[in-house]
Amino acid sequence: MKLENKNVVVTGGAGGIGAAMCRLFAQQVANVLVSDLNLEAAQEVANEIGGFAVQCDVSNESAVQSLVKQAEDHFGHVDLFCSNAGFGVGEPGHAASASNDVWQKNWDVHVMAHVYASRALLPKMIERGSGYLMSTASAAGLLSQIGDAAYTVTKHAAVAFAESLAITHGDDGIKVSVLCPQYVNTNILMISDEQRAKPMPGVLSAEECAQCVLEAIENEVFLITPHPEVRDYMMHRASDSDRWIGGMQRYRKTLIDEDGKMNFAKIFDK
Ligand SMILES: NC(=O)c1ccc[n+]([C@@H]2O[C@H](COP(=O)([O-])OP(=O)(O)OC[C@H]3O[C@@H](n4cnc5c(N)ncnc54)[C@H](O)[C@@H]3O)[C@@H](O)[C@H]2O)c1
Repeated sequence: MKLENKNVVVTGGAGGIGAAMCRLFAQQVANVLVSDLNLEAAQEVANEIGGFAVQCDVSNESAVQSLVKQAEDHFGHVDLFCSNAGFGVGEPGHAASASNDVWQKNWDVHVMAHVYASRALLPKMIERGSGYLMSTASAAGLLSQIGDAAYTVTKHAAVAFAESLAITHGDDGIKVSVLCPQYVNTNILMISDEQRAKPMPGVLSAEECAQCVLEAIENEVFLITPHPEVRDYMMHRASDSDRWIGGMQRYRKTLIDEDGKMNFAKIFDK
């Protein structure tokens, strides 16, 4: 789908990958609604690109319904909805140590947000026989994020939901893409600004990631892997699970501090 004159909504659009997508989509002459929990920052992006901003907590279904309604009232209809908002907090200890609240928030933001958006958008998209649902999962949704089981589990669910959407609604004219990047240099990385400013091999900029999304949407590609090596890892994981787990166990040991705690900075400290 070419984005010229298309009506686009981006959640988590105030920063990182979402803001980069808003800017790039606006350059394609799309009409962009920038949505985020952080209205002030969303408004700044919207002002910059001539779009408009709406506050929305994507973990709240009535807020997502209201976002879709405001988009439809403003644009007439939504061509592309990018369900991109997300967060990461890691886990304090063992793989089940994150609190139930943290698990629930991961589930609400990384899975139900996509369900809520699809539920609000699909009836009209099916009626029109066209529409594009793009969601941001993660390479963690295809592989694993060491030190954050709740993130990993819910991003896997996000990929599975995108697959269900694509299989169920292909014949309705609905296109679906799911974005699965490895590391992208945004606030989510849980490292210092100083470390983020240094070169980090293998880490993409938000702009590079957004460019991959644009190309995938133009070509209507389901699985977006801005880091091509992720496809190789998927093959290794599928072909020999025990070997894969062994490799991940060895890698995890390199990321653990003396107190046994995961040190995210070590991922990028090469
Ligand atoms: N940066 C990476 O390395 C990376 C890798 C894989 C996947 N991702 C995914 O990319 C997406 C974007 O993250 P990012 O890297 O740009 O991080 P970011 O922190 O820069 O941006 C995330 C945005 O989502 C917003 N947000 C968080 N919770 C929200 C909620 N409940 N409702 C509405 N908005 C909310 C934040 O305010 C923020 O503006 C996330 O889904 C993340 O999981 C990021």
